[in-house]
Amino acid sequence: MDKLELTDAKELTNQEKEVYRTLRTNLEFTGVENRVIAVTSCGPDEGKSTVSYNLGRTLASAGKTTLYIDADMRKSILANRHQIQGIEKGLSHYLSGQADMTEVVYSTNKKNFFMLPCGLFPVNPTELLGNGRLDKLLEGLKKTFDYIIIDTPPLGSVIDAAVVAKRCDGSVLVLEADRTPKSMAKSVKEQLQAANPNIVGVVLNKVDTHKGSYYGKKYGSYYGKYYK
Ligand SMILES: Nc1ncnc2c1ncn2[C@@H]1O[C@H](COP(=O)(O)OP(=O)(O)OP(=O)(O)O)[C@@H](O)[C@H]1O
Ligand SMILES: [Mg+2]
Repeated sequence: MDKLELTDAKELTNQEKEVYRTLRTNLEFTGVENRVIAVTSCGPDEGKSTVSYNLGRTLASAGKTTLYIDADMRKSILANRHQIQGIEKGLSHYLSGQADMTEVVYSTNKKNFFMLPCGLFPVNPTELLGNGRLDKLLEGLKKTFDYIIIDTPPLGSVIDAAVVAKRCDGSVLVLEADRTPKSMAKSVKEQLQAANPNIVGVVLNKVDTHKGSYYGKKYGSYYGKYYK
């Protein structure tokens, strides 16, 4: 297995670490059957990649062997954001039959944290995700990893996240505070539930802490609500 060196874009503050620990604990308490989790949102830039990566890292630092899959095969920023060099192959290579599982999973310099990057951007990401190879991949990976966290594109724009969520144990919806209209959030939630009824949590992200709102004061930038 090849190894990737990751550099975190920025160190989490103690408050952010605490919030991610709460997310991790809440996820764990939804039940041991929820180990493969898709993370999506309504629109772009709401924080899917940030939340999924940090949740993955937090699970790993608690001793859970965790795989982060970058399934945003349209505009992944993973390699740039974490200054990763040396990615040869990724999800698109596996899904298109150009690589096997062992070639696309990388260990990292972070203990218990593994990565499956997106690979070259394909022309047909939705079709690749739905071609049956993803089921096989996740089935195999589940035997090795305690948790698999999958970053996806926004469901309000493309259906990739629904195709992925269908093959997961559950999903997490990230909502940017004061941005997504209620009607859109509701419609995306319904779309997600149609693919997989098990939405294990909603993360309200980018809460303006200076507003002095209840969430801001009490929980800082993130507020995670998990339910079953
Ligand atoms: N809680 C937060 N507070 C402040 N900035 C944040 C927060 N979460 C994410 N960001 C910033 O918002 C931007 C978008 O975040 P991110 O890339 O995680 O979103 P995304 O939903 O994955 O976007 P895309 O739809 O392009 O994949 C980044 O610059 C990130 O650093
Ligand atoms: Mg993203």
